[in-house]
Amino acid sequence: MSKNIFDEQNYLLLKGFFNLKDVTRMSKRMHHLRNSGMVFIDEQCPKSYSTYSDPIHSEYQELYREKLEQAIGYELYPTYTYARIYSPKEILEKHKDRSSCEISITSTLDYNTFDDEPWDLYVEPNIKIKLYPGDVLVYRGCKIEHWREKFIGVFQTQIFMHYVNKNGKYHDRKYDGRPSLGASMWLRKDFDEEVCGNGALI
Ligand SMILES: [Fe+2]
Repeated sequence: MSKNIFDEQNYLLLKGFFNLKDVTRMSKRMHHLRNSGMVFIDEQCPKSYSTYSDPIHSEYQELYREKLEQAIGYELYPTYTYARIYSPKEILEKHKDRSSCEISITSTLDYNTFDDEPWDLYVEPNIKIKLYPGDVLVYRGCKIEHWREKFIGVFQTQIFMHYVNKNGKYHDRKYDGRPSLGASMWLRKDFDEEVCGNGALI
């Protein structure tokens, strides 16, 4: 349990957190969604393809919840998942997340880049993080700014799993305002707060 480091830094790198077989499953699912047109474009990353709480991704979010709880020392409610296939020249501007993202993980599912290295993620103050498939960054996206510089590569697939502290002030964000983890985004109730970044669902 690494609660102290996570609390101190507001982020923590967990190498090899996901089983690679599960990474492949989540990645294949995302490419299937892209090839089937079941993706959307959001305002934060308009060159790329995104999904909100795909049922397969949500299943993995729940399967890995307990492992994450043990790693950081908090009991969690899942809120939603988000996945993206980033396209060439995309930029992720410096931003903080909305409160349904109190505690989040991000992980690279696959990538095709010219140097065969995954695209770097930065967290404040200016920490460069490289996530290889299976690695996870757990971070407090509402508290610390995070960003990516221009993407030089063909594509990179990234998954985000968002949670709130079960005993914290955002516990009512459970399922991100939906009646269940598998429910559609159209059943989501708005928490008339903050829309952070550039889009309501991100
Ligand atoms: Fe974010």
